[in-house]
Amino acid sequence: MTRVAVVGAGRIGRHHARLLAAGEVPGLELTVLADPLAPDLDELAAELGVGRTVRDPLELAGDGSVDAVVITAPAKLHPELIEAFAGAGVHIFTEKPLGVDVASATRAVADAQKAPIVFQVGFNRRFSESWVNAKKAVVDGAVGAVHRIHSITRDPGPYAGDPARTAPGTVFNETLIHDFDTICWLNEGSEPVEVYAVADALVVPEAKASGFQDSAVVVIRFDNGAIATAEASFCAMYGYDLRGEVFGSAGMVQMGDPTNTAARLFDATGLHADTHGTDESRYHAAYRAEFQAFADRIAGADVPAPGAMDGLRAQWIAAASIRSAAEGRRVGLDEVK
Ligand SMILES: NC(=O)c1ccc[n+]([C@@H]2O[C@H](COP(=O)([O-])OP(=O)(O)OC[C@H]3O[C@@H](n4cnc5c(N)ncnc54)[C@H](O)[C@@H]3O)[C@@H](O)[C@H]2O)c1
Repeated sequence: MTRVAVVGAGRIGRHHARLLAAGEVPGLELTVLADPLAPDLDELAAELGVGRTVRDPLELAGDGSVDAVVITAPAKLHPELIEAFAGAGVHIFTEKPLGVDVASATRAVADAQKAPIVFQVGFNRRFSESWVNAKKAVVDGAVGAVHRIHSITRDPGPYAGDPARTAPGTVFNETLIHDFDTICWLNEGSEPVEVYAVADALVVPEAKASGFQDSAVVVIRFDNGAIATAEASFCAMYGYDLRGEVFGSAGMVQMGDPTNTAARLFDATGLHADTHGTDESRYHAAYRAEFQAFADRIAGADVPAPGAMDGLRAQWIAAASIRSAAEGRRVGLDEVK
């Protein structure tokens, strides 16, 4: 059994801790919760039946008490945590992104690649059923040569975040990073070469002056000629909306459904269907599947999963998008690598 610590007991860390503590992933045993700040860390551990809590996650890099970590700390801390745990030979599952800038992400990746560990990035969308099926359609040639990929991420509204506490570039580094990864995965074998991005504060316009961005569109050109577009919003009032499509010379495959049920209610006011709640409800199965891949890889299985170079490629696109949106011009990926 692989002994696992969840490092960062915030929103998604709690989801992942609950999933692991419930025994949903055979092979992984949650033994430690680490978080320097969460006021209720001990209560959470008691509720989940986790035997140990630590305030300094780096303690775990030195004491040999865990075999693997799930890093769910804020994005800017990922590189230093990756470096510490890679140096200690601890298997790493890190939530996306690798970091918030290419330089620190590159250093972290170099350390992870040198270490004899399993390293995986939390690009859970790759494990979602319709994206799995779309990938298969592309690989099987059903779509033909890929011409266009489109990807949508709209977080469920109403927007409840705090622009003042949102790091610059979050819409690219933390939201669209999923789209950047799945676009590259669906166009595997070719490399992104150039992006053009526009971003604005359309959900919270009063925060625009501080540089806050809650809405963005990115065009990505690939070296095989494919043109991808990705768009994000922090507020879709009808619920969590993740969709995409791959269009090619032989056909098209579509992913995602904004409704969470096949039931349609027809009444005097029209046609109705329930929509999705949050990432935690919609993607629970995908999160479980990515952790199962992590467990299987630690056990020696050759299972496909997003790794260091996938994290870095998505980080390059995010960095180029940030620069493009700031400077109002097309940015080559060579400028940010
Ligand atoms: N894959 C997904 O679908 C998904 C969904 C949500 C968030 N995320 C990613 O997960 C990460 C965390 O997001 P969140 O929304 O849970 O953030 P959050 O702010 O809710 O939680 C972060 C937690 O990390 C703790 N922390 C601070 N410093 C730490 C340190 N040095 N070591 C360990 N923990 C520390 C904080 O106290 C907090 O409890 C981000 O990178 C985010 O992009 C991924």
